[in-house]
Amino acid sequence: MTIIAIDGPAASGKSSVSKRLARRLGFSYVNSGSMYRAVTWELLRQSVDPLNPDSVRTSLDSMELGCGFTPEGESFIRINAQVPDAELKESVVNNNVSTVSAIPAVRHLIVARLRALVNERDVVMEGRDIGSAVFPDAPHKFYLDASPEIRRLRRAAEGQTDSIDLRDKQDSSRAEAPLQVAKGACVVDTSHLTLDGVVEKISQLLAVAGLHPR
Ligand code: CDP
Ligand code: CDP
Repeated sequence: MTIIAIDGPAASGKSSVSKRLARRLGFSYVNSGSMYRAVTWELLRQSVDPLNPDSVRTSLDSMELGCGFTPEGESFIRINAQVPDAELKESVVNNNVSTVSAIPAVRHLIVARLRALVNERDVVMEGRDIGSAVFPDAPHKFYLDASPEIRRLRRAAEGQTDSIDLRDKQDSSRAEAPLQVAKGACVVDTSHLTLDGVVEKISQLLAVAGLHPR
């Protein structure tokens, strides 16, 4: 199965670009951040303190986290028999997800699920550590970036309360699988590109590497 890894900081354009790219290539799209958000949402729902790794680990022991693809190739997440969606973008999740994501037990659980997913389909998978830690041997790796100011403006334009500077700092400085440019990744600055412009640029680089739309 072919994996295209797309990493980068908040609001660099990962989700929008990965979705369009996957559609263009006929691949499935997987948002690994949704898994970290789902675990965070469920921990908060259970009133588990994200700052207490022992409590988080205890909760993980009985947490049923599933993910897969619909027959149409859409990825989905199920957590303790629930299918959260809009809840994953709530401010309370934004404010706690980087703390939860820094706990190694959380990462181990999610990484195992992500690795199992690619046995089923070709994927464009986006996140923070897809090219560096989840699939270090992925044949195609991209790191999207944009200036902090532009990324802040993009989030604000979406009407979201999201301290992206703080999240980026936490994500870049954690001990396990921090946000970084993966070895072999191509860095794309999206600051002054449209979404279609970014997709076009990545598609051209993929074509040079021999990967064309089906
Ligand atoms: O879309 P946005 O950039 O705002 O974030 P996301 O991709 O939904 O990820 C939310 C959070 O999950 C990140 O800030 C990280 O703390 C964590 N995450 C991670 O640690 N590793 C990943 N592969 C993906 C997300
Ligand atoms: O997934 P990530 O947090 O990296 O970013 P996103 O959710 O795909 O993009 C954040 C917002 O910026 C969305 O509203 C995109 O439409 C917008 N964006 C843009 O206008 N131009 C770009 N080149 C990239 C993103």
